[in-house]
Amino acid sequence: MFMRNRFKTRLAVLKGLPVVTTAIVFSFFINSLAQAENSPNLGKPASPQLEKRWNLDIFPDGTGLPAGSGTAALGKKVYQQYCLSCHGVDGTGDSADELAGAKHGLTDAIPDKTIGTYWPYATTIFDFTRRAMPLNAPGILTNDQLYAVTAYLLYLNHLVKENDVINASTLPKVKMPNRNGFINHYQPPH
Ligand code: HEC
Repeated sequence: MFMRNRFKTRLAVLKGLPVVTTAIVFSFFINSLAQAENSPNLGKPASPQLEKRWNLDIFPDGTGLPAGSGTAALGKKVYQQYCLSCHGVDGTGDSADELAGAKHGLTDAIPDKTIGTYWPYATTIFDFTRRAMPLNAPGILTNDQLYAVTAYLLYLNHLVKENDVINASTLPKVKMPNRNGFINHYQPPH
């Protein structure tokens, strides 16, 4: 009887072994995760050039816009060389989004979300294009080319005239039709 009980106890210990092993392995895993959080030991410090390339936010009031200027007339050439292949003739869309030429408003069953119907701030066109477009080579356009292509996209959306000069002071003043179509949920920290 005594022997049988001891045998049972040993069996129970053995049965518990996988659980214990799993727990130990798991605690190692958690431990290494915690360590990784403290010292990821990955990557390398960003160079001043890299920081400059990415620290380029532009705000709706124009803060962050660089020097330079352009018109839609000039921007058409930039568009044809760098954008047309994906965004189509006059920005009406191709393999990539339509940027102009909306046939339907935002409240229609199938809305056209172009720059003209949807975007609340004109400065975002410059910001987005500078950081992300052309998709296959972002960062290659000069500030003058960026102002010009921004002017052209505004022109295609009937928001500026062909020879209006778009620069750091005129761009934030372009009133976008959907300017008040968004609800601001941002709560500044106290
Ligand atoms: C190789 C293809 C390609 C080229 C060239 C290209 N784009 Fe784009 N573009 C895209 C794609 C794809 C998207 C959608 C990206 C996304 O949603 O993240 C996009 C998105 C955009 C948007 C945002 C559209 C929206 O409503 O969300 C703008 C503005 C834009 N591109 C402007 C330009 C401009 C200006 C150029 C030329 C300087 C350009 N693109 C060149 C592929 C391209």
